[in-house]
Amino acid sequence: MIAFHEITAQELYEKLRNIRIGGNVCQYSLKKCEELTLLVNEIQRLKVEKNAVILVHSYANPEIVYGVADFVGDSYKLSRDAINTHAKTIVFVAVRFMGETAKILNPEKEVLIPARDPGCTLADSITADDVNRLRVQYPDHTFICYVNTSVEVKAECDICVTSANVYQIVQKIPNDKIYFLPDKFMGMNLVNEMKRRMIDKTIHFWSGSCYVHEEYTREQIFKVRSEYPDAKIVSHPECNEGVVANSDFVGGTEQMLDYMRKSPAKQFLMLTECGLSSRLQSEFPDKELVGSCTLCKYMKSNSLEDILGALKNPQPRQVVTIPEAIRQRAAKSLEAMFMYAGQGSTSVKKTCE
Ligand code: 13P
Ligand code: SF4
Repeated sequence: MIAFHEITAQELYEKLRNIRIGGNVCQYSLKKCEELTLLVNEIQRLKVEKNAVILVHSYANPEIVYGVADFVGDSYKLSRDAINTHAKTIVFVAVRFMGETAKILNPEKEVLIPARDPGCTLADSITADDVNRLRVQYPDHTFICYVNTSVEVKAECDICVTSANVYQIVQKIPNDKIYFLPDKFMGMNLVNEMKRRMIDKTIHFWSGSCYVHEEYTREQIFKVRSEYPDAKIVSHPECNEGVVANSDFVGGTEQMLDYMRKSPAKQFLMLTECGLSSRLQSEFPDKELVGSCTLCKYMKSNSLEDILGALKNPQPRQVVTIPEAIRQRAAKSLEAMFMYAGQGSTSVKKTCE
């Protein structure tokens, strides 16, 4: 058996000590890290024993990101990591639609979702029956689904996109009639971005929203700009158009981190889930986080205990199963995404800096 590196409480504490968000949930003392390390090392041992790999979205709790993750990132990066893994089992620490994406791409592997509440207000806003009705209403449109959708919805759509490639892919699609689902804010941002790029497309969109990102307002940005004039405002395309229009940079979560990494600025307001702010505090200690952030209760419903339980003896609700006929049709929309996403970037560098 391959040996695993046993992490010490001090090593874990070094990664978590600067994190100051999320109230009591995400604040770490050396004593707390001593307790967490017992669970972390038990998970690491079982992971090797069971030939498992742990994929973790950046929004998960920091002790998971820095304690047990083999891969951390946004939904696009993790879907690529899921394709490349040789492990027998994938533990996906995120929400249901991300675990389903890993299963669509790896039908022969066991995929586990440890979360107690793996929902998502976007994915839960639309069903396959809704898409079929829309298909009748908009027969000559190309149906683009955001990755935040169920496998059944993906199976009824033509092309899947993520926040990291939505603009780039829609721009490349030959059809000028697009139906985008399920995010109304991302849909509006898509309309605005295509206009800005002078791409002539008729875009209709569904009415879903992310309950985390819809909280952010442009007034919040004005307030932060007046208090911290040098701060860079970085937002996710699930935010509304007023937020996007007043941000310095808009992109998927990995692109937001990359922007920060390369920016000479010292202060940032991150308009996305608090997990990204935690990563900023842990990985960029010389940069300052200003303003506040919002937690996603679904992403935060993953704990080290849940991961350990899933590895030891998964409950039926933690094991992803997909009927083969649906999986194959959903796989086509993901394959189309990988094909279109071949080159280029979707992030928007604002001209206001
Ligand atoms: P990313 O695609 O940026 O990972 O975002 C997924 C998500 O759920 C954002 O709320
Ligand atoms: Fe869904 Fe919003 Fe949570 Fe992302 S942050 S998983 S879009 S509810």
